[in-house]
Amino acid sequence: MADKWKIEDEFLFGGDYNPDQWLDRPDVLEADLTLMKNAGISVVSLGIFAWSTLEPEEGKFEFDWMDRIIDNLHGAGVKVFLATPSGARPAWMAERYPEVLRVGPSGGRNLFGARHNHCFSSPVYREKVRIMNTRLAERYSSHPAVVLWHVSNEYSGDCHCELCQANFRAWLKERYKTLDALNKAWWTSFWSHTVTDWDQIHSPVPHGELSVHGLNLDWQKFTTHMTVDFMTHEVEALKSAGSDLPVTTNMMMVMEDKGMDPGLDNWKFREIMDYASWDSYPAWHMPGHKILIHGETPDEEADDYRRASEEAFHHDLYRSLCNGPFLLMESTPSRVNWQATSKGKRPGMNILAGMNAVSHGSNSVQYFQWRQGRGSFEKYHGAVVDQSGRDDTLVYRECAELGAMLKKIKPVAEAGYPARAALVYSWENRWALDDSQGPVNNDRKAYVETVRKHYYCLWKAGIPVDVISGEEDLSGYELVAAPMLYLTSRKQAENFRTYVEGGGNLLTTYNTGYVDETDLCFEGGSPGPLRDVLGLRVEDLDALHRNERIYLSMEEDYPVQDYYEIVRPEGAQVLARFRDPWHQDLPGFLVNSFGGGKAYHLAGRLDADSLYEVYQIIVSDREIRSNLDLVIEKSSELDIQIREKGDKVYLFVMNFSAREGSVVLKSTWNDFLEEGEAGDEWTLPPYGLKILTN
Ligand code: GLA
Ligand code: ZN
Repeated sequence: MADKWKIEDEFLFGGDYNPDQWLDRPDVLEADLTLMKNAGISVVSLGIFAWSTLEPEEGKFEFDWMDRIIDNLHGAGVKVFLATPSGARPAWMAERYPEVLRVGPSGGRNLFGARHNHCFSSPVYREKVRIMNTRLAERYSSHPAVVLWHVSNEYSGDCHCELCQANFRAWLKERYKTLDALNKAWWTSFWSHTVTDWDQIHSPVPHGELSVHGLNLDWQKFTTHMTVDFMTHEVEALKSAGSDLPVTTNMMMVMEDKGMDPGLDNWKFREIMDYASWDSYPAWHMPGHKILIHGETPDEEADDYRRASEEAFHHDLYRSLCNGPFLLMESTPSRVNWQATSKGKRPGMNILAGMNAVSHGSNSVQYFQWRQGRGSFEKYHGAVVDQSGRDDTLVYRECAELGAMLKKIKPVAEAGYPARAALVYSWENRWALDDSQGPVNNDRKAYVETVRKHYYCLWKAGIPVDVISGEEDLSGYELVAAPMLYLTSRKQAENFRTYVEGGGNLLTTYNTGYVDETDLCFEGGSPGPLRDVLGLRVEDLDALHRNERIYLSMEEDYPVQDYYEIVRPEGAQVLARFRDPWHQDLPGFLVNSFGGGKAYHLAGRLDADSLYEVYQIIVSDREIRSNLDLVIEKSSELDIQIREKGDKVYLFVMNFSAREGSVVLKSTWNDFLEEGEAGDEWTLPPYGLKILTN
């Protein structure tokens, strides 16, 4: 038997394949194989929403069609990520067992419809999933084409049914042991909310309780817990049936209006996944459209550059999740169908977006979807093969070009990503902060935007970043930034302390260390357990009106918006002060020597350009290494990323701009795609890229 597939083996190229929509069209299924071969497709995700085809009636399983499809794919040299179909269940199941359907916050049970419409507590749903996963594993886990389990699809959402309420109470009991402890943690004597019986506890809902922050936070944590528990149940079924294939689930991050899906604490999934994967749908070429960073200085031609930074942030997060190469499980080769304006990609952008993922550690480029379906909700959604079924469309041809490139750069698949800095992103903090009623409310709290702005500064400075939870070993990082960590867990605080003591460089900001992991304020105020590490205490966190500004005076005066703090140094040295008509000389930017390291604190919110200048100070004072050390000069929208293995370095030079780009490197490199010397100076067309090696 061939060696077991590992993610480091090669780059995979492909996408979601739904032959179950075409079983009455053998000609189409046959054409798929030829089209796949010509596009260089090496993987498909199969069976994601195929439950009603796999089990059309309760207990009546039909696998013959899947046998044929998998055999044929194998014959064509295409690997299979086999899905468990739990992302959507068949109508017969909802009809016979209404408990599998979700109950919304209003208390009403959903009707059959849509997807993700199931209760993770339901014993019936769990049993049906167990049977299905067992059958799939028994039948396919030793098929040579099947290399990975694609468990479910974009887990999300919560359920408020009685089963879930009971599970929530049991989870709370396990956590707090006594009602007294729970009442203290939730500060329930406020508004007379003391709970005297576990059965009085109900999930947060609009017509009931929404104002107990500890309850809201625990419900979010519980929802993550239930989802992880459900996934564990799915994986156990696969393993008990004898499968030892690796496992992933495709995470969802970007929602058009939410910025980033807030629902599940992704860090809690790292234990049950062998490889991380995610679905990426950025809005390229949409000037000003919900760019979450840097909207302050609109420059339409530079929008794609900033969008690339947002994308890179997510790639770095998923690479960091399982600490190694990840899979770009979904993206669109052209357009989505759900943005207000679902724009197609300009020539070059599909290849560039795929290589952006690769340059940050993805070992696949996969699409939703291989072929457009003829009906229903996603018939207009981008696909490698559109309704015409042709292989000479712009999209198909650009995909084929990328497929060929990924074969060419195969050795890069076993190269790592040398992160120098780490950026903390915490879902628990986001939930608590979104819920808080503070000096600044509504969209201006902007945690996600703030983290992305910090990411942008590091990315623009050419510093490779891991995006982390803050509870990992930090000792290898030259800089750790933890912006706006309103909820600082004791574990994070301890971790930062050890890191700085041991010589590390930490950056924190306004609105840090207010509450602990149960959403209770730290006694003694902000920054709570970080007070001695930062060498300061915060007397007040104040708000500025939307258009009001004070200034941080450095070489120039940098505008401060939304938030600023009144900081009292307790050992920290003031590097820059605020210019503010009502307070004289308030500290705005400070540094504290603690153990062998330095803890920086920025006490007000800056726009991205100004924040970049602050990062430049830290980067040069602390001599943080940058990819730009390899560059003499480059145009501003060129991004440079590195993957490396031992002495072998692969340099990705990418032009995220509608303008031509140019670069002068300090030494000469070989062109990995064109083969031969690349020289040290050249220009790149709009959305062009080069991959170089030493
Ligand atoms: C998600 C889903 C896919 C598809 C795409 C459309 O990522 O996982 O099934 O609906 O969105 O963009
Ligand atoms: Zn439920």
